[in-house]
Amino acid sequence: MIIFKYLITGALPYVNFDLHFGHVVACLLRPDIYTRFLRLKNEDVISICGSDEYGTPSLVAAQKEGISPQELCDKYHKIQKNSIEKLNIKFDNFSRTTIPEHIKTVQDVYYILKQNNFIYRKEIEELYCKKCKRSLPDRYVRGTCPYCNYEKARGDQCESCGKILEPMQLKKATCIDCNEEPILRKSEHVFFELSKLNDELLEWVKENKHWPNNARSFALNWLKEGLKDKDISRDLPWGVPIPDAKGLVFYVWFDAPLGYLTFSKQIGKESWWKDSNTRIIHFIGKDNIAFHTISFPGVLKAHGKYNLPYQVSSCEFLNYEGGKFSKSEQHGFFLKNAVELYPADYWRYYISSIIPDSHDTSFEWKDFQEKINSDLNDTFGNLIHRTLTFTKRFFEGKIEKPELSEIDNEILNKVQEKTKKIEKLMYNIELKKALIEIINIARIGNQFITKEEPWKNEKRRQNVVYVSLSIAKTLSIILEPFDKNRFVRTFF
Ligand code: 2FM
Ligand code: ZN
Repeated sequence: MIIFKYLITGALPYVNFDLHFGHVVACLLRPDIYTRFLRLKNEDVISICGSDEYGTPSLVAAQKEGISPQELCDKYHKIQKNSIEKLNIKFDNFSRTTIPEHIKTVQDVYYILKQNNFIYRKEIEELYCKKCKRSLPDRYVRGTCPYCNYEKARGDQCESCGKILEPMQLKKATCIDCNEEPILRKSEHVFFELSKLNDELLEWVKENKHWPNNARSFALNWLKEGLKDKDISRDLPWGVPIPDAKGLVFYVWFDAPLGYLTFSKQIGKESWWKDSNTRIIHFIGKDNIAFHTISFPGVLKAHGKYNLPYQVSSCEFLNYEGGKFSKSEQHGFFLKNAVELYPADYWRYYISSIIPDSHDTSFEWKDFQEKINSDLNDTFGNLIHRTLTFTKRFFEGKIEKPELSEIDNEILNKVQEKTKKIEKLMYNIELKKALIEIINIARIGNQFITKEEPWKNEKRRQNVVYVSLSIAKTLSIILEPFDKNRFVRTFF
């Protein structure tokens, strides 16, 4: 039997604002739950995440706040790390892309791609703002998406249809600062010859039948259209310098995924990237699919020495009260406020219950209230509370194993079957479904107690309390990945 190693990654959050729940659920909480589960199963696992600090997202935000990009990154890295920890999320390494080790990783990989003939230079026409006196890559420019006609598409990706774009493709492009129409300027850029890998990547994606639908179909469609080479250089004052191209830095989406590698190296696990028994599992949001299924695997393939991901677990969107969560419009609810308002296990439970794994879901305050009250307090809390109170009241806190009746065994078997089902769902990263089944176990326990009435029925009392205690014990274990629930912490 092959023993796998699991290398879990959460998509690195930008440091341009506080974390919103969309990113938290898709890229931070899910990998934490999955890692905790694998640890419970005694699997060999490491989890990696950190701040994505370069690129125009930081530059634009720093300019808005009137501070330097470095100050911005220091500020939000601290805020985000702190909120993540308060949510009881723990990565083995939560690092930053601005550390010197990362610059070395990126430049080393670049030299190997160059050695392997995947890098070339080309003069291209780029958008330039005469008024602001700068080129307009990525988020410095907005315009109409050529694919879906969304009017506020960014220069690197359309937020509406998810397509990867080049600024030149935008219709009616304008500079984000002064709204002026840019002019064209000739300039030399560095390209990664991704097109050469089209067939290989297509074969690889086809083999990955276990990927979620959204990731697989997005990747297949793009590959069938045919990949274009990727401009990996930017004329910006903030980024990992391209060592042999003066004044240019790497595009943030070239350096950021390599952060996974840097952060593994930092904890002495680079070898896991080369071990064929390692399963690299990326947890991402829908808007990151293109980078994790095509461009980053392309870089890994061109490099030749590292494993490609085994799983790209991509969510759909989490909305807020029916509308879109938006950092730029500051619409929604953000982690820093959340962890100050309610305990971590409330948030962990609620957002796990609305994971947008197969379709968009919505964060609704009313639903939050109902789920905490009915699932956590009434169903789960009630079972634990009644069971432990009976144990204390009738058996002074200690109960001998009785001879089990047919009904008792039936209940315990049902719970065992559900536990097996939950284990399977958890391995398959169907976390929301697993959570529903966990609460169903608590429901089975409650119905059993209510029907048997151990407070009245002396004859059945020992059996009923014993069976309920077994269920409570099972729950305390299988709920651990979602959180060591407060009820469990209080009573066990
Ligand atoms: O979309 C985002 O928030 C990006 N910062 C995700 C980067 S993931 C990775 F590959 F680094
Ligand atoms: Zn679009």
